[in-house]
Amino acid sequence: MAKDTFYITTPIYYPSGKWHIGTCYTTVVCDAMARFYRLCGRDVFFLTGTDEHGQKIENNAKKAGVTPMEYIDPIVADLKSIWEMLDISYDRFIRTTDADHVATVQKVFKKLYDNGDIYKSEYEGLYCTPCESFFTESQLVNGKCPDCGREVHYEKEESYFFRLSKYADRIIELYENNPEFLQPKSRVNEMINNFIKPGLQDLCVSRTSVKWGIPVEFDKDHVVYVWIDALSNYISALGYGSKDDSLYKKFWPCDLHMTGKEIIRFHAIIWPAILMALGEPVPKRIYGHGWLLVGGDRLAKSKENTSSELVDPKEIVARYGSDALRYFLLREIPFGSDGVYTNETFLNRINSDLSNDIGNLVSRTTAMISQYFGGKLPAIKELTELDNELVAIMNGLYENVSAAIAEINVPKALAEIFKLVGRANKYIDETMPWVLGKDPSKKDRLATVLYVLSEAIRCSGILLLPFLPKSAPEILACYGIDASDKKLFESLSFGKLEGGIDVVKARPIFPRIDVKKELADVSAMMLERHNKELKAAAAKEKAEDKANEPKFEEIAIDDFAKVELRVALVTACEKIEKSKKLLKLSIDLGYEKRTVVSGIAEYYAPEELVGRKVVLVANLKPAKLCGVESQGMILCSDDGDAVNLVVPAEGAKIGSRVR
Ligand code: MSP
Repeated sequence: MAKDTFYITTPIYYPSGKWHIGTCYTTVVCDAMARFYRLCGRDVFFLTGTDEHGQKIENNAKKAGVTPMEYIDPIVADLKSIWEMLDISYDRFIRTTDADHVATVQKVFKKLYDNGDIYKSEYEGLYCTPCESFFTESQLVNGKCPDCGREVHYEKEESYFFRLSKYADRIIELYENNPEFLQPKSRVNEMINNFIKPGLQDLCVSRTSVKWGIPVEFDKDHVVYVWIDALSNYISALGYGSKDDSLYKKFWPCDLHMTGKEIIRFHAIIWPAILMALGEPVPKRIYGHGWLLVGGDRLAKSKENTSSELVDPKEIVARYGSDALRYFLLREIPFGSDGVYTNETFLNRINSDLSNDIGNLVSRTTAMISQYFGGKLPAIKELTELDNELVAIMNGLYENVSAAIAEINVPKALAEIFKLVGRANKYIDETMPWVLGKDPSKKDRLATVLYVLSEAIRCSGILLLPFLPKSAPEILACYGIDASDKKLFESLSFGKLEGGIDVVKARPIFPRIDVKKELADVSAMMLERHNKELKAAAAKEKAEDKANEPKFEEIAIDDFAKVELRVALVTACEKIEKSKKLLKLSIDLGYEKRTVVSGIAEYYAPEELVGRKVVLVANLKPAKLCGVESQGMILCSDDGDAVNLVVPAEGAKIGSRVR
């Protein structure tokens, strides 16, 4: 019989800069869940990858003077190395530049177009020319481009649109009929009230001004824009629409799309609508988790830097091991809500749970087996009520952990395991094996106590495998248990260890940390590294700016002589009503009077200009701006932020030539 399947995905990551500790969160959670279901014997497919197209990557590459692929490749390699370091057990790492993904996206786009769900129209919005990007009013910062801070202007571009509005009712119905579909539950109201009820707009799904994207097969001026490309990765990775779609048949619909809360909207509204339009089943569940925030500790506060870049996952893993970081991310952040990383909470969590609780339990128990029974596990004798209390926790553990995982509450799953660990440590204090060891008549009782403790270690060790893939196998190895044994999960109840087996005395798996001292050291180390990075980034930016400085074509003196520049006086000035930017100036050249229109209304009030001398390009062909004929142009300096008049010296006579 075919095994139960489980298909789980992370969002695909934008390779647009440096990876940080927040980046690791979604993927570590998905990895723990994938490993848990593999342990339970399910046939799991775990997908992650990178979202490599679009304007931002195109711009970043241009700025760095390389091709988009040259820009992306090292960043993707770096992400893969982080996943390797954190033992991420993905089944496929998809890149949206992979040939099979590109082919699927083109097929999806064509199918939606053929069905009438995609149509051609015009995209209108506020456009930043240097960034070649459209923005909505609300995305602007102080009315300017949120990326480069420059002016934006209204523009239209031919685009294809997806009929998202058509699917609003079916999406509400989907939420109503499937309470499991979108979680945590609070997200459902957020989607309905904030996005669906105010009215879904059709979605722009192609661009002509962006080149770095998947070409629309039947209209090569267009590339597929962002969400159809990105979201389709969840089915292209399974071969949807290709010759071999066996994985698609086996794993779709997806059991769980895990996403950060800022992109739930795309997963819970746009993605099901696209699938409905394709006539494919929608995913079973979408979970929107909160963010990991970095800040609040001394390191961050003293530098007024709450950026998660201060905390480098590679640095943490190198110092404390990958399981320590995994454990913190999985245990400390209340699932569904935001959580905060500080060095202090991290070190305390590692010390208390890993070093004190599980570390101590394993080292004390295996040391006593070595001391009192020569390293051979004693056989069980008679169980007391106290023993049975611990045994009951062991026997119910799988059910509790599995229930927590099913409701996607990973911290709760870990808390269940640590309940057993905590109870076992208390049991050591209650039974006092070191006292039993002194009295030969208590040897049988000592044997039972150490056996019961060993079983607690075995059961918790097995269930910790998905969360601590490096240390849990080490714990189990003390009892000769092979962590890769596919049948481990069937042995999750008390009494499976055989008396007489060899038990190896554990090395300290999680050495105890002197938190106060460590905190000072690690904070200093992070700060030093971060400052170095900031310096290097500033130097790089300077070098890039220099390389990108505009190169001017040289002109001959005769060319310059063609430009007639004159000193002029502004005699009157007023705003042009229909325009935010234009001023109408009356100019006196001494030998004649003129009207000039200038785009400086955002930098000068009309009354500031009256009575000032300016430099005029006097032989410029007249042009009409907002219905007013401009007879020349006033010279200004423009550094990208500020615009300033070029002002002749005091004594310069009106009408004199500027040469
Ligand atoms: N490319 C899109 C996703 C497309 S999926 C079809 C994207 N990429 S991303 O790189 O910006 O984010 C990837 C994931 O990392 C998201 O789930 C995001 O929420 C998560 N995180 C990035 N920073 C995070 C934290 N500080 N904390 C928790 N998760 C964070 O969005």
